[in-house]
Amino acid sequence: MSSEASPAASAPTMRAMQFLEYGAPADVIHEARVPIPEPRPDDILVEVKAAGVNPYDWHFYRGDPYMIRATSGLRRLRHPRIAGADFAGVVAKVGENVTNFSIGDRVFGERGEGGALAEFVAVPAENTATMPLTASFEEAAAVPMVALTASSALRDVGKLSPGQSVLVNGASGGVGVFAVQLAKAWGASRVVGVCSGRNKELVLSLGADAVVDYTRENYWEGGEEYDLLVDVQNSQPLRRSLKAVKQDGTYVIVGGGGGKLMGPGGPVMRAMAQGLFKRQRVAAVFAQSRGEDLARVASLIDDGKVTVPLEKVYDWADTTTAMERLESNRVSGKLVVRI
Ligand SMILES: NC(=O)c1ccc[n+]([C@@H]2O[C@H](COP(=O)([O-])OP(=O)(O)OC[C@H]3O[C@@H](n4cnc5c(N)ncnc54)[C@H](OP(=O)(O)O)[C@@H]3O)[C@@H](O)[C@H]2O)c1
Repeated sequence: MSSEASPAASAPTMRAMQFLEYGAPADVIHEARVPIPEPRPDDILVEVKAAGVNPYDWHFYRGDPYMIRATSGLRRLRHPRIAGADFAGVVAKVGENVTNFSIGDRVFGERGEGGALAEFVAVPAENTATMPLTASFEEAAAVPMVALTASSALRDVGKLSPGQSVLVNGASGGVGVFAVQLAKAWGASRVVGVCSGRNKELVLSLGADAVVDYTRENYWEGGEEYDLLVDVQNSQPLRRSLKAVKQDGTYVIVGGGGGKLMGPGGPVMRAMAQGLFKRQRVAAVFAQSRGEDLARVASLIDDGKVTVPLEKVYDWADTTTAMERLESNRVSGKLVVRI
């Protein structure tokens, strides 16, 4: 028998936060040593410095909604999955077709298949962008998924025009803090955020013209109608929310709510179906990873028009604590894990 080690055994490895079972983060997410991914021709390999966490992440390690299990495995995952989607770091290798990035560049982006909670991640170059010059790795890692979602809700789906008014329901969470700021940066005449009283100062500090404290007032009963309602939390039936939207206005559902089977997908489909019979336009957001959109957000950050509110930066060893906090649905701004 040969004494040579197999190529797989000698392949360079990295630390990664991985899971194979569904369940609570402390039970299922464990540090593992896995091979460093090899970038494909259109990919870059990024040495991750920080990873942002999103509700998106817990849907996968909880296997909740069950719909997710149809593709990833019924009782347990078919293959181990590395947690995390959002990352910021330094380019360590470029695929042979990549011309717009070089080794050493500071980049940020999102990998929808997971993999950001690791020392390295390989991603299509077109889904990444150069980090804002003024941002730390921790700040940049907090941006991709939520800013891309907010950007899509306002521009691609909401068709926001300068001078319009915008209501953001769920203004203090990850998507909301970017929706408020991007709406202002893109010329909305009035932006109102729905949040609880404890987050009022945060949302006003981001440029909102006013807030509605949902623990004391109903945003659909205030008498004010908006051109665009970005519904991040989907906390009310559509018929109520539409009372706050002008007859020729648009309601955009982002997420929130839903049952064990379909998760947020259920309310999204229900809203779309009900919307067929409403005067207002009703639409949903399915955010895409697009480097060009991220680059647009990066320049707004560098221009000082958008800031990145971080509730907390966690150490690598506290990753599951970050996930537990995320699941509370009480995070103000964003949570990030330092790699
Ligand atoms: N469609 C897409 O492509 C897409 C992309 C990204 C995210 N999403 C979905 O969007 C949703 C929100 O994501 P996120 O990252 O913004 O979540 P998040 O940061 O975890 O949201 C937490 C925030 O929501 C606030 N909140 C909780 N209940 C509320 C209510 N009834 N009314 C108003 N605010 C409330 C909390 O403030 P208080 O504690 O003060 O209430 C907290 O600040 C999730 O369901 C996520 O899955 C969808």
